Amino acid sequence: MFSIPALDLPPLKAASGTVHLPGSKSISNRVLLLAGLSAGTTTVHDLLESDDTAVMLKALAQLGCTLSRRVQDGREVLDVTGLGGRLRSAQAKLFLGNAGTAMRPLTAALAVLATLQGGTFELSGVPRMHERPIGDLVDALRQLGCRIDDLGQPGYPPLRLHGAAGGKLNLQAPVRVRGDVSSQFLTALLLALPLAAATQEVMIEVEGELISKPYIDITLALLQRFGIAVQREGWQRFTIPMGSAYASPGSIHVEGDASSASYFVALGAIAGIGQAVRIEGVGADSIQGDIRFVEAAQAMGAAVRSGPGWLEVQRGTWPLRALELDCNHIPDAAMTLAVMALYAQGTTRLTGIGSWRVKETDRIAAMATELRKVGATVDEGPDWIAVTPPLAHAWQRARIHTYDDHRMAMCLSLAAFNPLAGAQPPVAVRIEDPRCVGKTFPDYFEALFSLSRAQVHDIPVIAIDGPSSSGKGTLAAQVAAALGWHYLDSGVLYRAVGVAAHARGLLAAPAEVPLDEATQTRIAAVAASLNIRFEGERVWMDGVDRTDVVRHEASGALASRVSALPAVRAALHQRQLDFRAVPGLVADGRDMGTVVFPDARLKVFLTADAATRAERRHKQLISKGISATIEGLRSDLEARDLRDRTRAVAPLKPAEDAVMFDNSSTSIEESVAQVLKWWSARWA
Ligand code: DC
Repeated sequence: MFSIPALDLPPLKAASGTVHLPGSKSISNRVLLLAGLSAGTTTVHDLLESDDTAVMLKALAQLGCTLSRRVQDGREVLDVTGLGGRLRSAQAKLFLGNAGTAMRPLTAALAVLATLQGGTFELSGVPRMHERPIGDLVDALRQLGCRIDDLGQPGYPPLRLHGAAGGKLNLQAPVRVRGDVSSQFLTALLLALPLAAATQEVMIEVEGELISKPYIDITLALLQRFGIAVQREGWQRFTIPMGSAYASPGSIHVEGDASSASYFVALGAIAGIGQAVRIEGVGADSIQGDIRFVEAAQAMGAAVRSGPGWLEVQRGTWPLRALELDCNHIPDAAMTLAVMALYAQGTTRLTGIGSWRVKETDRIAAMATELRKVGATVDEGPDWIAVTPPLAHAWQRARIHTYDDHRMAMCLSLAAFNPLAGAQPPVAVRIEDPRCVGKTFPDYFEALFSLSRAQVHDIPVIAIDGPSSSGKGTLAAQVAAALGWHYLDSGVLYRAVGVAAHARGLLAAPAEVPLDEATQTRIAAVAASLNIRFEGERVWMDGVDRTDVVRHEASGALASRVSALPAVRAALHQRQLDFRAVPGLVADGRDMGTVVFPDARLKVFLTADAATRAERRHKQLISKGISATIEGLRSDLEARDLRDRTRAVAPLKPAEDAVMFDNSSTSIEESVAQVLKWWSARWA
């Protein structure tokens, strides 16, 4: 997952390949709570690992459930041993982040348990959670006789739930709950009230028009799996039969997240040109309401095939058709339609989305603001939004604010496909705080990048060249990490050729003796057939981890010799170009800015005086337990620099447009900050 302040997406032009969806958030948190309330152990397969499930898991552990992970058939599963409806701890303070799917049902379940069995529980979350309404649920629970204190603003978390052992619930009359603000209030009661249905039936009546009905279907389907057969009359009245008790199904499988699927359905419809985007984890048979997003996407022009557990989407009609749709049935996935509207002809108008205003952020306001930033014309009302795409010349390079809302980040990333809308010029998109996708899809951007392609010259490169031990390797690696980009240490390629050539006896002659032509040809052949693989910092050659050999001082000298051979440089050229991939590349070496990536967006020529470089190298070696003298290192460095500077091909020299950076007295943190500052200035 990207843990960086901002992620730059270059203009993107096509997408294809397969994505495996993470588990559904809605299903995961309901399953966890049901397993936590049941007796016995439930094995949960394909659970979503995310911020929202993490807070639920922590809460269950605090309440005395036993959670243990293990591997079954090569995949991790979670065993949850539940409370069997009996409180183990009578007191707990639960922090629930910004997870509505944890806050609402836990409030209901713990209020009921505290009333019947005694106990005190405090539930809180992040500041935004304290702005998300829960009053209608609290009102319903108070009718039942639950004692609930508002610890902040009435009607919002944080809350304290308490009761003395032996209390009773008022179940004679139906429990009444409003259904027109959030369907999670009804879900919370449905999940919790089987706790009170052992000796009498429990009736729930919905006041007002129930929104987001498909989420209630998920709740009912999962209750069924846990032995609770709720009877439903329309969407107004729900009855939990007398004698209901949670029974663990033993093992349960979590479907892929249908809301998360929406981004890839949209991706296929926009950028699956002649090739499909395949989505694994949900299919037409899904129990999740957001699967109906597929119909809306088809109405806009997506070409979709599906089967059990999979979807395949490619471009159908292009440009997409504008849509007018009441989205009450797909509240979360509907956000994706608002962004697909950027690629439609005409104005797309989405209605029935009032619930957007009480989600992770006010999503109508947020969506309108951010779509306007990329150049769209947006109108909004209390429960609707209308989006007209920018004209070709009106697309704007935008910094997308994400409001700590995973869906804002995932949706707006699709604006990077603006070249397909004919954007003139194509524009990059900056996603602020990309880490917020961790709420439901921690690896979203990795998945997006693995499917997406860009014009090569649109993929930004930062080239960092300089002499040996100037610190460019450390600097480049850290800049790459800070930007979430790929990293190429080109020196390693030359080192690997040096090591392989040496192993074949091709570098036996002293360094001063020029290599004859036959030997040069054989070394170039070694370079061309180099079998090398990178795994983070590790370097594998012919399937063997050769990191230590390759990074050794002696290999640097071998590299310096082979790198002077034009045929070797030619053999490694394409290999280096191949590192240039979405979203960007930081490359370090001697000729990154001059020869390999002459169109690099930012070129830095890093230097440090010879004494500093020798000292740094000395420290590095000593820390690895390798002995060396500073004087010896300094003369080696100077000899290598001389050879690298004076060779005929791609000699070490700054590119004409490089920024010169002497970092002799600059710390690595300062150096990274400096390069990022230059990059930001170029980006803007
Ligand atoms: O950066 P380094 O010490 O790992 O590089 C080892 C040698 O490889 C260096 O002496 C010069 C050569 N090299 C090169 O010629 N061109 C590059 N792009 C990178 C390294």
